Order: sequence, then C-alpha cells, then structure tokens
Amino acid sequence: MTTPNSHPNEARQRTLRAAGIDPNRVPEHVAVIMDGNGRWAKRRGEERVFGHAHGVESVRATVEAALESGVRFLTLYAFSTENWNRPKDEVDALMDLLVQTLVQEAMELGSKGVRLRAIGDVDSLPKACQEQLERVKEGPEGEVHLDLVLALSYSAKWEMVEAIRSMMNDDLTPEQILPSTIDGYLQTADLPDPELMIRTSGEHRISNFMLWQLAYAELHFTSVLWPDFRMSHFFDAIRDFQNRERRFGALPQSTKTS
Ligand code: FPP
Repeated sequence: MTTPNSHPNEARQRTLRAAGIDPNRVPEHVAVIMDGNGRWAKRRGEERVFGHAHGVESVRATVEAALESGVRFLTLYAFSTENWNRPKDEVDALMDLLVQTLVQEAMELGSKGVRLRAIGDVDSLPKACQEQLERVKEGPEGEVHLDLVLALSYSAKWEMVEAIRSMMNDDLTPEQILPSTIDGYLQTADLPDPELMIRTSGEHRISNFMLWQLAYAELHFTSVLWPDFRMSHFFDAIRDFQNRERRFGALPQSTKTS
C-alpha cells in the first residue's frame, strides 16, 4: 500500500531496492510480538532480565528499520496482561527498563519524527511509567514520520471487554453494533489495521495480541530471538509480505475473469 510516508528519498529508495523491497508496497502498519528474551539470556547463562535489556537495542533497530522503509505505524507488544503473572523481580525490572528507555530515548525519537504512545491498561502501570508516557505523547514539533505504539499491559481480550463495556455504557442498540462500530471502541480506534505481524523466537502463536485488528494481516514468523533482531530481519519480513498474494477472502487474481 502506498502511504503518506512511503515516498522515502532517493537514497532510501535505493537501499530498499537493493534489499529487494519495492518502496511503493511497504505495509502501512507493522505489529511485532517481541519474543525470546528469556531464552537468549539463558543460553548465555544469564538472568532473563539480561535478555530484556538487550531487547532494547532491537527496539531501536526496529524503529530505524521502520523509518528507513517508510512504515507509518509500528506497534510493539512490550508487556501483556498475562506478563503481570511473572515473578515480581522480572516485572519490576521490565517496568524500570521501560521508564529508563523512555527517559533516554524521548529526545532522539522526537528528532527523528517519531511520535510515541501506548495502548493497553495504562492506568495499571507504575506511576513513573505513566508519567513518562504522558511526557512523550506530545510528539515531535515537526512532521511525524512514524507512530510508535507500545502495547503495555495489553491483551486483545482485555481490549474487547473494555470495548463491550463502553458500548453498553453508551446504550448502543444491537443494530448499531457493526464491525466499524467495534473498530471505533478499540484502543486502536485511530490506527489502520496492521497489514503485517512479525513474531520472533520461532513461536507460531498470536498470544492474545490484536485479535480483531489482525484479521487480514500477513503473519511472518522468524526463529531469530528478539535480542538478535535487526534491520535485515525486518527487511526480510517486508520482503516476505510483498511476496504474498493478499486476497481478503476473494479469489486469486489469476482465476478471476476480466
Ligand atoms: C518476551 O520475551 C518479551 C517481553 C515479555 C518483554 C519485551 C520487552 C523488551 C523487548 C524490552 C523493553 C521494551 C521497550 C519497548 C523499551 P520472553 O521473556 O517471553 O522470552 P522467552 O519466551 O524466551 O522466555
């Protein structure tokens, strides 16, 4: 799909073409399940938190890759509703890492035209985390090139329950509830649906992530563990996306009569 940001300058177009990517058919919205931090750390004889800390470098690389390729929206599944059940030490470390990263990266992100926001049960996050998210949500002063969406304390089932409660609070009649109505009550109301979902670490699951919004997304699974994920892996996923025939339930082009 051609997006407002999918007209990168000539140098970028050359980089993309050299990587086998058509700059005019880059997905507008890419969603990522960042998985494998714990295994990456264990393989090195380290605690799981070591893997999360190294995962921040992969977040940076992925943001760079999204900017480089002209992706307009990037959603990262950073902390699920279920992640609250992990040991308290790990949860605390993840929240600290998040706050620290937001403090350190906010200026840099702004200067690159990245606007950051969160979806999920933000009220359940530690106050320091909420404050940092509040601070950065203004976004850059100039043009926005990329909306970086962090899914925090998020799960699709939580999101759907919230949406249904809101629709009931608004006294909607059954007839008023259409797919587009539901779209408007989800956390992602003002975002296009992801066209591509990437999951790292060799797991082939969606794990309660954007179940409604991923209805027609292309799914790319890679065995790379999240802390090893770099721009070349992101480009692999975009190439994979561009090689798929997107049918949305219709017949393939080749079998259609003109
Ligand atoms: C899954 O790996 C990863 C997470 C639960 C957390 C993701 C967090 C980061 C990448 C770092 C901070 C993020 C930002 C946005 C600053 P896992 O622990 O489930 O790995 P495993 O499956 O190998 O156990």
